[in-house]
This record gives sequence, C-alpha cells and structure tokens, in this order.
Amino acid sequence: MTLDRRQFLLRSGSAAAVVALFGQGCASSGLAAQGKVLGFTGVPASLHDGVTIPPEYEWQLLYPWGTPTGVAGRMPAFAADAGNSADDQALQAGMHHDGMHFFPLDGAGERGLLVMNHEYTDEQLLHVDGVKAGGWSAEKVRKSLHAMGVSVIEIRRGPEGWRQVLPSPFARRVHGRTPMRISGPAAGTPRMRTAANPAGDAVLGTFANCAMGVTPWGTYLTCEENFHGYFGGPKEAARAATPAQRRYGTVAGSQWVEYWRFDERFDLSRHPNEPHRFGWVVEIDPFDPAATPVKRTALGRKRQESATCTVAKDGRLVVYMGDDSRFEYIYKFVSRDKVHPGTDAAARAANSHLLDEGTLYVARYDADGRGSWLPLVHGRDGLDAAAGFADQADVLIHARLAGDIVGGTKMDRPEWIAVHPQSGEVYVTLTNNSQRGDAGKPGTDAANPRANNFFGGILRWREDGGDAAATGFGWNHFALAGDPAQAGSGARYPSAEADMFGAPDGLHFDRGGLLWIQTDMSGQAIGKPPYTSLGNNQMLCADPASGRIKRFLTGPNGCEITGCVVTPDRRTLFVNIQHPGEARDDGDGGHNSAWPDGTAPGQARPRSATLAIRRRDGGIVGT
Ligand code: FEO
Ligand code: CA
Ligand code: CA
Ligand code: CA
Repeated sequence: MTLDRRQFLLRSGSAAAVVALFGQGCASSGLAAQGKVLGFTGVPASLHDGVTIPPEYEWQLLYPWGTPTGVAGRMPAFAADAGNSADDQALQAGMHHDGMHFFPLDGAGERGLLVMNHEYTDEQLLHVDGVKAGGWSAEKVRKSLHAMGVSVIEIRRGPEGWRQVLPSPFARRVHGRTPMRISGPAAGTPRMRTAANPAGDAVLGTFANCAMGVTPWGTYLTCEENFHGYFGGPKEAARAATPAQRRYGTVAGSQWVEYWRFDERFDLSRHPNEPHRFGWVVEIDPFDPAATPVKRTALGRKRQESATCTVAKDGRLVVYMGDDSRFEYIYKFVSRDKVHPGTDAAARAANSHLLDEGTLYVARYDADGRGSWLPLVHGRDGLDAAAGFADQADVLIHARLAGDIVGGTKMDRPEWIAVHPQSGEVYVTLTNNSQRGDAGKPGTDAANPRANNFFGGILRWREDGGDAAATGFGWNHFALAGDPAQAGSGARYPSAEADMFGAPDGLHFDRGGLLWIQTDMSGQAIGKPPYTSLGNNQMLCADPASGRIKRFLTGPNGCEITGCVVTPDRRTLFVNIQHPGEARDDGDGGHNSAWPDGTAPGQARPRSATLAIRRRDGGIVGT
C-alpha cells in the first residue's frame, strides 16, 4: 500500500468504512464463477500500426467516418476520395469519434442505440484537395460543420456479430448546424443575443464534442470542448479582446479554421456573442430523432470535457464536469429538484427541466487530503457587479473567472470523470500539464504534485457521508502515471502489478466496478522521449479493489483511444479509435497510418471508427 493511499484511508473515515469502500471486491467476488478479474493476457506496449488485443478476445469494426448513419432513403455511400458533399456528410458518420454510450433497446443487451461524439475534423482528409493547397470555401465550411456533433445509430448482434441496422427509425446526425434550444439561467440574457437570434434562446449546432454523460432518465449529454478554435476574424481585431475572451481563447487571429471568412457568425469582430453560445453541456434524447437538443446553461461554460451523472442521497441529480485546459477547474452541478425515476417518455418529460435549476460548484483540493465544493452563486463570495458579474448568467458564461474568485484548485487538464458503481467514489483523469511550475505559471500543489507533468495521473475522491451532494470530500491519487525508467518521472502506480501508461484521458466504470483507462499522448510525442517506451495510445483495465492495472489494447499509429462503454450484460465493450495516422511526422501533411482500410501509410485515407470487442467465449469483458 502506498503512503498516498494509506493517508487517504486514514483521513477519509473509519476502518469499517474503508473496508466497505476498497474491500467490496464487487468485481472480484461477483465474477469468481465466470472468469478471473484481469485474467486476460496482457498486451505489451507497442508501436505496431494496428489494433492489438488479448488473444482471448476479438474485435469488429463499426461505423468508420463516412458510413451512412441510416436515415431511410438517405444513405449516401462513403467516397474513398473524400468526394462526398456537405449534404452527404450530414447523413454519414462524422470524423474523430469520441465519447460514446450504448442505450439498450432490449433486455439482453444485443440490440441498442450507439450514440457517439465526433470531436473535430482533419480538413486535409475531409476534402478531396484538403485546404492547404485547395483553400477554403463555403461548401467546405458546411462539410466541416457537418462532420462534427453526434451520431445516433441502431446496432444489433446476430450470428455475424454486431451490425448496424440500416435503415433505422432512430438514426440521426446532430451536427454543427442542427437547430437547438438554449435553456437555463443564461438563456435570453444580453451576452447570449445575436443578430440572427435576438432572443438569445436558440443556436445552430454543436461542435468540438469530446466526452459525454448519461442522465438517469436516458438522455445523452454531449460536451462542447475546444469550441474556441472555430471562431476567428481579422488579426487586428485581437487588440480589442477582453480578459474573458482571452481566458476562453476566443481571440481573432488565433483560429484553427477559416470558417469566419465564409460564415459570418464565426467572425468575432462582427458577432462577439456567438461564442457565448458554445462551451456548454447539450442534452439530446436519442430515442426521439425529432427532439430538439438543448444547451443547459445552468451547468456552466467551459472547455467542457465530461458530464458524468449520479444521484444524491435525497434524489437530486449530481453532474461532475472537467474543464480541459491547463490550470482549469473541476466542477459539479447539483439540481434543485429530485430526479423523477424511470426512463420512459413520461420520466423524460418529468425531468425535462431538471438541468435548468440548481447550484454549480468548483472544487478545491487541500493539502491535507480534504476538499471542498465552492458554490458559484451570484451575490456570494465576491461574485458581484464589482467583480464584473452583473447576474447569475455572467457567473455561468464566465465560470472560469468565477472559479478564480472563489478559489478553486487549478488542475492539470481534467478530462473524463467516472463514478464507481458501488462505492460512489469519483475518479478523474488529469491528462498532463507540461507548463506546471514554469515561470509565471502556477507551481505544484498537493493535487497536482509534478512540475512539467508529462504523464498525468488519476485522482479520486469520496464525498462526505457517501452523498454526492455533500460540500466536502476526502481525496487522493489512484495513480500517477509515467515510465518508471524515465529519470525524474517520479512514477507512482497503485500497485506493483500496474502496467505503465501516460496521458490518461478516457475513463469508464463498467457495472462490475472495473475501471477502463484510455490514453491520449499527442501524435507528435508518441514514440519520442520521454514517452518512447509507452508505445502507441492504448487502453488498460484497472481493478480498484486490488490496484492492479493491465494493458488491454494498443492502437494504430497516431491515434487516440477514446470513448468507452461496456454493455449492461458486460459481454461487449465498445471503444473508439480516434484520428489514426494523425502524427503527420513526414512534414508534408501526410498521415502515418491508413487504418482501417489500408495496411501502409498512403494506401487509404485513415478513418476514425468504433470497435466492438468481445471475449471469444462470450464471457465477461475484463476477465
Ligand atoms: Fe477532447 Fe480533452 O479531450
Ligand atoms: Ca478527451
Ligand atoms: Ca486529451
Ligand atoms: Ca484526440
């Protein structure tokens, strides 16, 4: 037992509570008859350009970029030369699959809706002639917006394995131009009003959709992460940028794409309020393709990573969220009202305003292993007009600035958050922060203990009294990641039986309490110091009861592994391979993988896709 863990146990309650927490062995005991927890053959770290999983398992490919989503009568085939139109793309799988969930349509978990995010675009792959040589056009802007957002597809498992149901009455693409509603305290307020929507209550589209959440009533929450990169404008307009615009990165001239030249709502110099309508959690009803998605402003605006839901002891909803930038915060939202139980249409209707009223908190992690949730409420703790917050809408739209004033802890890039299904413990990946401790930047603290943090880690906490609505908690690190052989890495894993990894990002607890960890080392860094021995991005399975972590999958060159969901019967694991080939290390904008359609770079355009992974004997995944 590491000192870190022992201190956590001592600080966070009685010995009996500790046994209840770590000694449950829910994964271990419940599976004894069906297979040994983490009994699979571990996969070595590898720079192999392909998917590698344990030999006891098999994988199938589902829904690569460009695959028809399945809207009846409107299923354009993928053009391998990227010749599909913008209109075609709005009916096909988007690019860069990310957060994902499986909603069963039967009791057995063999038919359901797979709902996934499409985070961003690779414009060189998306268009026949790319944009470097070919330049931008209005059609390319539309195609790019259509390649992000969310897909809802129906899938079914038969004798041939998992197959997409084509067509399906559920099939739907939500994308960067889909009409949606804005609700909650910021809706209709001055900063949300634009020339196209003077009421400030409606917006076109969602994009930069990274991690996700699922509500108890069966809706999907998609999170708008790096929305800032899509807004731009003439460089000289940057001089007028406000501190809030700089903090959120919406500064003219620093854009990633040239949307603003062809679609004026993306021009910050002409429509400064448009970016206030992005950076939110968006609720989508996957069972009703006609339902209008809703941006829930009560949850705060940030570079939204996950929106992980759980229920407090008194029945209120709790949503945990990370803001993935260096030195940004971890948040939680506690609803005012209680969750109406059930997942049918009546329950969804009864809960349709639950995410509009409640309290947003930011987390502070103290050096003694305790922590506090600090409310972001206008009129309290300095959040007033003198500090630049006219009302609660300002507090929510500029949640980062509010977090500064109340004293949240600046974290090493919070990514996914997962709640243990039995203990209620909350785990968050802190992916890395190479600037920690740099001149002019915050130094180390107890929760972020490494300067120049290349490898990241996983931090966890337990809410006081086991109640998700509590305002205090005890915390420690589950793992500090890294290559133990790397000088100065200070690697600290939870047990001697923990495989190494770096830059953890995706995180998912299955129903048995196994923790699936996915990594996102940047494409430029993979295979190079200090990441050399960590290989390509990968997925690992951890048993928090024992501290063991075992590598389960390694991915193709240049990819990130992200998006993870285990079916309720625990016999299928869905995983996304995002941006294979992205390393671009040949210097001319080429890609270093052709996965899955080719075996060598250059043979085909690499495509993000979903894997359906099962044990060959049909057993529980993770055994
Ligand atoms: Fe899209 Fe923070 O990962
Ligand atoms: Ca992520
Ligand atoms: Ca990441
Ligand atoms: Ca990525």
